[in-house]
Amino acid sequence: MPGPYDVVVIGGGPGGYNAAIRAAQLGLKTACIEKRAVKDAVAFGGTCLNVGCIPSKALLFASERFEDASKHFASIGIKVTPEIDLPGMMGHKERTVDQLVKGVSFLFKKNKVDPYFGTGRIVSATQVELTGPDGTKETLETKNIIIATGSEVMPLPGVTVDEKVIVSSTGILSLSEVPKRLTVIGAGIIGLELGSVWRRLGAEVTVIEYLDRIVPGVDGDVAKEFQKILTRQGIKFKLATKVTKAEPGASGVTVTMEPAAGGAAETLETDILLVCIGRRPFIEGLGAKEAGVAIDKRGRVETDGHGRTNVPGIWVVGDVTTGPMLAHKAEDEAMAVAELIAGKAGHVNYDVIPSVVYTHPEVASVGKTEDELKAAGVAYKTGKFPFTANARAKTVAEKDGFVKIIADAKTDRVLGCHIIGPEAGNLIMEVAVAMEFGASSEDIARTCHPHPTLTEGVRQAALGVDNRIMQM
Ligand code: FAD
Ligand code: NAI
Repeated sequence: MPGPYDVVVIGGGPGGYNAAIRAAQLGLKTACIEKRAVKDAVAFGGTCLNVGCIPSKALLFASERFEDASKHFASIGIKVTPEIDLPGMMGHKERTVDQLVKGVSFLFKKNKVDPYFGTGRIVSATQVELTGPDGTKETLETKNIIIATGSEVMPLPGVTVDEKVIVSSTGILSLSEVPKRLTVIGAGIIGLELGSVWRRLGAEVTVIEYLDRIVPGVDGDVAKEFQKILTRQGIKFKLATKVTKAEPGASGVTVTMEPAAGGAAETLETDILLVCIGRRPFIEGLGAKEAGVAIDKRGRVETDGHGRTNVPGIWVVGDVTTGPMLAHKAEDEAMAVAELIAGKAGHVNYDVIPSVVYTHPEVASVGKTEDELKAAGVAYKTGKFPFTANARAKTVAEKDGFVKIIADAKTDRVLGCHIIGPEAGNLIMEVAVAMEFGASSEDIARTCHPHPTLTEGVRQAALGVDNRIMQM
């Protein structure tokens, strides 16, 4: 019987592989079990590396370069006539994924994590049964188990994903040709990122959203500006609309929808239908419930806020538990749980988890939105600065978007920041670090920012909290 281990991690995504590496670094004898296979070999890296963050960002990068070359280069004095080589783009995506997936196995070897290929099932707080790809079973003895089994696509009643014409986020990453018409159900992060990829490559994209706004959870001002920009780029939106049925036929898919509040149904024909209405925790076959682990009404493994489940010795990280379904949140929890198991002080600051939508322009946020603060009755001030007034944005031919900083009305402590604009995903980190240190907007405003950079937009927004913007 292999082991005994100090830690057995079930699931090899950003939550699982980071937990395993950190635990091993802390001197704990660690195993990580992953069931995902690519070409009959184990593929660590989870949703993120295999069918999520990484392949989507590779395609976002390539399609954005194509759009730059075809639409934007001329305005800065470069004449080119680019052509799409879709197999070439897919090759870039596949190489990127392959290298990073292999990188996890390399890191396991380097840090002495024992990798296991197969499905893990919790038998008790000290035993995990492993079923290998050929069906053979063995039991791993362990002092601690970390559940890191991630999430899966949320199904939509009446719409059956076949990964051919009705696709999930996985199928949309591997289309063999650019569809003439792409319809997306859900104006969330996946719909807007992957809708943007195929729009840039030539598809007519229509996004159907149940709510009367896009990207719920994102600051309202930012969402409005975002919708305006995406509409200008050519994406069509049908808001406050619900899809009731989708039927594949000879000429694509017939989508039936009706107003969310009720009313007459209408249909739309499309070549490809992407379903992306959210993700749900994945615990199928895990044996967690049977082992007494508490699961909440939404199917998430419950924790005490520090990764402990109700069963001593069983821990949880990542998408399968509460909180935003983001790779970096899973990674933070992974580090914290490994450190807690090793008797150290691990913690995650759930108030400072940045979120980025990798469209162009990017949308990034950290901390509270105005709506959340209003609902909580917190008095706040805001400072807002548009990129039209930022020198660097002008030099790089960017004009859309703004930075908004929200600070406590009494203490001036920064409570949130919301950015739509070029490099928003990088710009947000200055404010995230400031928030980790409990900074005020005055602290950001008094920090010297290099000229000419987009970061000056962040500084001007911070000055704006006290009505002291100088460059507008
Ligand atoms: P996962 O990555 O889902 O990993 C869980 C792993 O556990 C899987 O590989 C699964 O096969 C394995 N597993 C499950 N059950 C068992 C079992 N019983 N035995 C063995 N193995 C098992 N997040 C970001 O932060 N930035 C992004 O840009 C981003 N882009 C995304 C794009 C797309 C298209 C999608 C779908 C998601 C994206 N995400 C992004 C979300 C991100 O992928 C997840 O938040 C992240 O992968 C969660 O990590 P995890 O380790 O909790 O779970
Ligand atoms: P999402 O939660 O971001 O968006 C789903 C959207 O679908 C919402 O706008 C919701 O109102 C809408 N919706 C729900 N039911 C609907 C229905 N029946 N009809 C029409 N619309 C409906 O979920 P999405 O886009 O599937 O992404 C899942 C998760 O993956 C994200 O929440 C995020 O955690 C993660 N992700 C993160 C990325 C990033 O960080 N850049 C990129 C992609 C995914």
